[in-house]
Amino acid sequence: MLNFTFHNPTAIVFGQGSIAQLSERVPVNARILVLYGGSSAEKNGTLNEVRTALQGRNIHEFGGIEPNPTYETLMRAVDLVRSNDLDFLLAVGGGSVIDGTKFVAAAVHYQGEPWGILESHGAVVQSAMPFGSVLTLPATGSEMNSGAVITRRATKAKLSFLSDHVFPRFSILDPTKTNTLPERQLANGVVDAFTHVMEQYMTYPAGGLIQDRFSESLLQTLIDIGPRVLDPQPDEEARDNLTWVATLALNGLISAGVPEDWSTHMIGHEITALHDIDHARTLAMVLPANLKVRREAKRAKLLQYAARVWQLHEGTDEMRIDAAIARTEAFFESLGVPTRFSAYGLDATAIDPIVHQLEAHGMTALGERSDVTLAVSRQILEAAL
Ligand code: NZQ
Ligand code: ZN
Repeated sequence: MLNFTFHNPTAIVFGQGSIAQLSERVPVNARILVLYGGSSAEKNGTLNEVRTALQGRNIHEFGGIEPNPTYETLMRAVDLVRSNDLDFLLAVGGGSVIDGTKFVAAAVHYQGEPWGILESHGAVVQSAMPFGSVLTLPATGSEMNSGAVITRRATKAKLSFLSDHVFPRFSILDPTKTNTLPERQLANGVVDAFTHVMEQYMTYPAGGLIQDRFSESLLQTLIDIGPRVLDPQPDEEARDNLTWVATLALNGLISAGVPEDWSTHMIGHEITALHDIDHARTLAMVLPANLKVRREAKRAKLLQYAARVWQLHEGTDEMRIDAAIARTEAFFESLGVPTRFSAYGLDATAIDPIVHQLEAHGMTALGERSDVTLAVSRQILEAAL
């Protein structure tokens, strides 16, 4: 029986030219901090569009939020907000900038040491500053969800937090902003969104018929548009759809009332923290290996996935499961995203430190049935070599 509360307060403003609507979305008297990453938003004109839309407002800026945003950098933004008494945040960038902004929003209001927000996975967050986002990279879904992942450089810890207080008030999605993305980031976006759907779908049948059908349609859309997105001549229809699929893949709709896995992400975060490999690339290594190792527990859903997503109807159950996993790997590889440790210069010596970090972070009972112990994570990592 399904049993859930669904709540998502983020308004989405979608389409070419939609940055101009910022002036209506940001409160008139707000004292604003615009947060951004490295140089991309300046170079491609996004920041200038934002400045134009907010002309005459009280604006401060904070740049330099790195991919896999760090606590160390973000605490400088927290100080800036406090010392200038700012009251509204605007993230301009990809998942890293939006996640970083969520952390700043929660940390400014938090009385204790802000790393506690991550250690408690968000449980200590009682309120947060209001904020909006202008998305420049479709991938994470951070623009319409209440999660964030922050890295503490000093300890190589990459931890996530969730809180209803950090849903963006609004997010502006102008798919033409993806036109300056390098191929690697576009491919990462497809793989990240695909894996988000899999984390919420590839568990066991739980009676969420529409959640399943919706997930399958998101996966099929990603399979269709993946190659088109990488076309050097920007394909507008593909970019529009990647942007919307990536948002829908992680905004709570497909997980409503059904079990979720997330072990691929938790293992992947440790790999990023230790080896500085892009988030999506860690997922491409871990997801197929995870499906291989846990094929018995996921059997019913793997067969459904084989039939409905990959149209595999011939052969025995085992053959169709094998083929569905192989298709998943081949899809990632076809986007130029390798699925093996060896392709990233890692070998078996990388496994112990990853398992050690999982243990240090309490990631000892992962997955939809909490049965992904450290021993199972080790098997998954071995299967990814
Ligand atoms: O820093 P700049 O110069 O802006 O360049 C960025 C960055 O180098 C560049 N970029 C962004 N938009 C661009 C652009 N370059 C050209 N044109 C544009 N329009 O892309 C690079 C990567 O950006 P980043 O924001 O790091 O990528 P992504 O959106 O993939 O975010 C990854 C982060 O999100 C977390 C990941 O763990 C990782 O830290 N995630 C957040 C989630 C969430 N909040 O729900 C879920 C995800 O599973 C994920 O864990
Ligand atoms: Zn992800």
